[in-house]
Amino acid sequence: MCGIVGFIGTKNAKEVLLNGLEKLEYRGYDSAGIALKSQDSVLVAKEKGRIADLREEVPADAFGEIGIGHTRWATHGKPSHANAHPHQSKSGRYTIVHNGVIENYSLLTDEYLADVGFASDTDTEVIVLLIELFASQGLTTKQAFTKTLSLLHGSYAICLIDNQDNETLYAAKNKSPLLIGTGKDFNVIASDAMAVIRETNQFIEIMDEEIVIVKRDGVTIETLDGEEVTREAYTATLDASDIEKGTYPHYMLKETDEQPAVIRKIIQAYQNEEGEITVDGTIVNEVLASDRIHIVACGTSYHAGLVGKNLIEKLAQIPVEVHVSSEFGYNMPLLSEKPLFIFITQSGETADSRQVLVKVKEMGYRSLTITNVPGSTLDREADHTMHLHAGPEIAVASTKAYTAQIAALSILATVVGRAKGLETAKQFDLAVELGIVANAMETLVDSKEIIEHIAGEYLATTRNAFFLGRHIDYFVAMEAALKLKEISYIQAEGFASGELKHGTIALIEEGTPVLALITQESINWNIRGNVKEVLARGANACILAMEGVNQPGDQFVIPKVHELLTPLASVVPCQLLAYYAALHRGCDVDKPRNLAKSVTVE
Ligand code: M6R
Repeated sequence: MCGIVGFIGTKNAKEVLLNGLEKLEYRGYDSAGIALKSQDSVLVAKEKGRIADLREEVPADAFGEIGIGHTRWATHGKPSHANAHPHQSKSGRYTIVHNGVIENYSLLTDEYLADVGFASDTDTEVIVLLIELFASQGLTTKQAFTKTLSLLHGSYAICLIDNQDNETLYAAKNKSPLLIGTGKDFNVIASDAMAVIRETNQFIEIMDEEIVIVKRDGVTIETLDGEEVTREAYTATLDASDIEKGTYPHYMLKETDEQPAVIRKIIQAYQNEEGEITVDGTIVNEVLASDRIHIVACGTSYHAGLVGKNLIEKLAQIPVEVHVSSEFGYNMPLLSEKPLFIFITQSGETADSRQVLVKVKEMGYRSLTITNVPGSTLDREADHTMHLHAGPEIAVASTKAYTAQIAALSILATVVGRAKGLETAKQFDLAVELGIVANAMETLVDSKEIIEHIAGEYLATTRNAFFLGRHIDYFVAMEAALKLKEISYIQAEGFASGELKHGTIALIEEGTPVLALITQESINWNIRGNVKEVLARGANACILAMEGVNQPGDQFVIPKVHELLTPLASVVPCQLLAYYAALHRGCDVDKPRNLAKSVTVE
């Protein structure tokens, strides 16, 4: 979603901002802009479209030692030049960029700015106009900014330039992520460390409702009540090369290919010196103490949660419910006495999930976040965290995070099951089984040619597609459909195949692609029966079956892995099918329309 970069130093900020914005492109955006402050003026350049278009817009000789940049994912007002950030106050004194949503912007407009004309349709503009209003009433910039922040309801990460001040950049956040990167004679601001990792690996976290005064040689953090806060910088472990595509045409392909290595890395990360899989004892005790687990997540992470439920119930024998975050927060189920909340989130910043975390914390319940991003909001705010060790996931379509999430859940389930003395968990040699998964994944990512061929035959020109599954294959079918939808724009549905005849089979026409996933012995013949039913109605059916349950004539065979871990293997051809379908249809795989990588608004 929206991204922010800010710089104050002794060199031209232009390239820091443009390079930083390029690194934030993966978050999803539809317009972008920068502001550069020289001695006595502020140059603003903004453009609907890509950073490449913005680069054309910025004059070659543009210069400023202070600057702010922004990628916008439209919420209030369509993507346009006028709505792109930065936004300026009427006199041009103040310039800001903002991520998030100001929920009370129209109330604030009515109360304070009724006679002031707006230059855009955004909620953001109200912030910069208020700052100017309060400054015109005699407040200093810091006071005007603080007063404005105290009036805002909603989420924000803000960077502010005052054209009358050549020494300061201001920043603040509430719910939306923002970090300060520190260096010698310069400081940077970013919504994601990745954006400025070339400049520094030293970062200071900003907490909600703090205001930060950033100078070339220092950073001061204060609460909105003016109390100074001391906080040490931490070293980001991110490597600049982790966020490059290398020779790959797309991040999604690179990240799909990385999955065998990620699984091996997770095994190592959760293995003790004796080679046993372990999890921090406090997390295990927390799970043991709970009488029911609620997994809360969105999108692909939700699909990983569905697989996690199966793992935890089978291996640890604790009942699990899985919830879509955006629903859970507003329609809570009846809770048991000692529930534990597990938040699954690649980014650790998803606003829908965070609002649930905030709520359950207020209710006094315990929480665990499973995330790929150390230091992210849900990482910091939950009682416990398990990290995925998958390395940065840049492509909007999540691949390696999904498999890493399932691997992490299998580790948790096994360790808890063993702690309870359960035979199934004790006899499950997870490290070995995950090793087998990694090898199977390697075979799968090496099968690109055949998967590309299937994508061409079944998905290149279709309007819609169905993925069928039963048991845990149904959960993977849902993930396969989501992957296909988001990057190829084919209307796709993941379906429990037994439900077809209760309505949905009416949609099957001559040539409708139906892709069936079969990995479980127990449902092999039932789902093959459902495939016959759709074939009889003209469907173009394709079976992806696991070795051992495959039959002659199946279009694709998935190497065998343990029956509890099959999603880790069966999802890989589905990810590649989506990838090649998108390529066949000429879609921009890494930047699908309307989507954002990190969804930081509810
Ligand atoms: O960062 P999170 O895991 O919390 O993100 C949740 C979803 O937004 C995300 O999984 C989304 O569905 C992906 N684009 C799917 O590929």
